[in-house]
Amino acid sequence: MADKIKLFVNGEEVEVEAGKNLVDAVGAVGIEIPHLCYHPALGADGNCRMCLVGIEDGRPPLVPACKTPAQEGMKVLLNAEHIKKIQRDVMELELINHPIDCPVCDQAGECKLQDYYMSYDQAESRMTVPQVNKNKNMDFGGGVVHDQERCIVCGRCVRFLRQITKTGELGIINRTDVARVNIFPGRPIDNRYGVNVVDLCPVGAMTSSDFRFKQRVWFLKKALGVCHGCSKGCNITMEHNKEKNKDDLLYRFRPRLNEQVNGYFICDEGRLSYKLENENRLTVPQIGKVERDFESVITACNNEIAMSQRPAFLISPSASLEQMVAVKALADKIGAPISGFSDGYIKEGDGDDYLIQDDKAANRKGLELLGIDTSKAGFETAADEADLLINFGNDLSLSYSADEIKELTKATKTIVCASHMRDYIHDANIIIPIASYSEYEGCIVNCDNILQKFSKAVTKNNEQSTICQLALEFGSPLSTPAEIFAELQQVAPQLKQYKPATIPAEGLNLNDSEAANVTA
Ligand code: SF4
Ligand code: FES
Repeated sequence: MADKIKLFVNGEEVEVEAGKNLVDAVGAVGIEIPHLCYHPALGADGNCRMCLVGIEDGRPPLVPACKTPAQEGMKVLLNAEHIKKIQRDVMELELINHPIDCPVCDQAGECKLQDYYMSYDQAESRMTVPQVNKNKNMDFGGGVVHDQERCIVCGRCVRFLRQITKTGELGIINRTDVARVNIFPGRPIDNRYGVNVVDLCPVGAMTSSDFRFKQRVWFLKKALGVCHGCSKGCNITMEHNKEKNKDDLLYRFRPRLNEQVNGYFICDEGRLSYKLENENRLTVPQIGKVERDFESVITACNNEIAMSQRPAFLISPSASLEQMVAVKALADKIGAPISGFSDGYIKEGDGDDYLIQDDKAANRKGLELLGIDTSKAGFETAADEADLLINFGNDLSLSYSADEIKELTKATKTIVCASHMRDYIHDANIIIPIASYSEYEGCIVNCDNILQKFSKAVTKNNEQSTICQLALEFGSPLSTPAEIFAELQQVAPQLKQYKPATIPAEGLNLNDSEAANVTA
């Protein structure tokens, strides 16, 4: 628990966290100090002067709040007329050469300059000379498009590429009103985190070539998600929209702050993985390559399970904890083996020492937690002995070639429950489409043993069953979320003291002592 101090803002006493600068300290208790160049992940640069405040202790009349540590008893002045005038002056400076192209700017609706103009300025332009023209629509590489005219030269993008990725592709050239951000000749943005500069840019000077002009941001609904692209489980907002007469579609993933997982950023691959949720989806159940309705397919599956002497189950290492335990309960009930074999999800050498992990499975730790075997030998023995293999979402094509899958299942009937089409699935006896992770809620455990929950974002026109629902259809004894969570606590005693509602947004570190994580 961080130490607290008391200080005064406009004469009102507030209690804030010690050790923070004024922007963050009073921002955390809901008092905004406008700021443009400062970002908590990049530190204070002090170049924009938007955050100037008064301190009533004999210091210079105004100090930058981003560079001023909050101190006990400090008297901070935000609402004096001379401070408001400074804020208007800074806004006027930023807007002198800024194009008024908000209607066609992707940042409209989430632009600091727009917001601050409304909150702190609202003045008419006094410009009587032509604006300085700069370059527009510049392809900076790495999925980033730059508009020099919109840039307020806060330097956040430059500092990100120097301090965080340490690749330094951007610089600021020239000074005064001809200062501009640019790449070095022939050296585009070329790192796996580059699109974070789009989120960092407080105005519309950096836009994503992927997202540009696809949606107005105020139409997007946001759900709290956890990226399933690798075992890090970076926190994201899943932003989606259902337009009239269309399906509910994801339009972007953006990073969501979680200090103990991903901080403020995500990798570009994870960011773009929203597309995988929209594309190549399985939507129609099949029996023997013939499309059938859901009820017929469930009946056929239950007949197969009833007739099978030696069924075996395979579960995805990216399934939620709830799904894993539901399938495990079904397997235990009928005395069948269950495997989470998924070696093919591991891409040796692909990870880095920042966020990206070799393991592309989102919940391998969940398999461990529930004691589900992940060995190759275990799976192959079970598949070899089985007369029915029921696969819940495990992409076997990552672990085996098409011929190897054929060989592995040549004497076995197969039921494949999958969210996405893969070539090998065509050969399954029964195919059932299932929901993907943006379409249900649940919990996963990341590579650092942090239990995180995620929400449902998308509701498809043709909504598919979840693995939990299918397990229930096949005879799982767990029929409600409460029963599933109770079973989770039974199988994984580490979870005994928690309820789903007490899992905080930043997750639970299962490595920590029990007491440290108890929130209610
Ligand atoms: Fe700041 Fe955006 Fe300009 Fe970079 S492009 S200096 S982040 S305003
Ligand atoms: Fe403090 Fe820019 S935010 S000087």
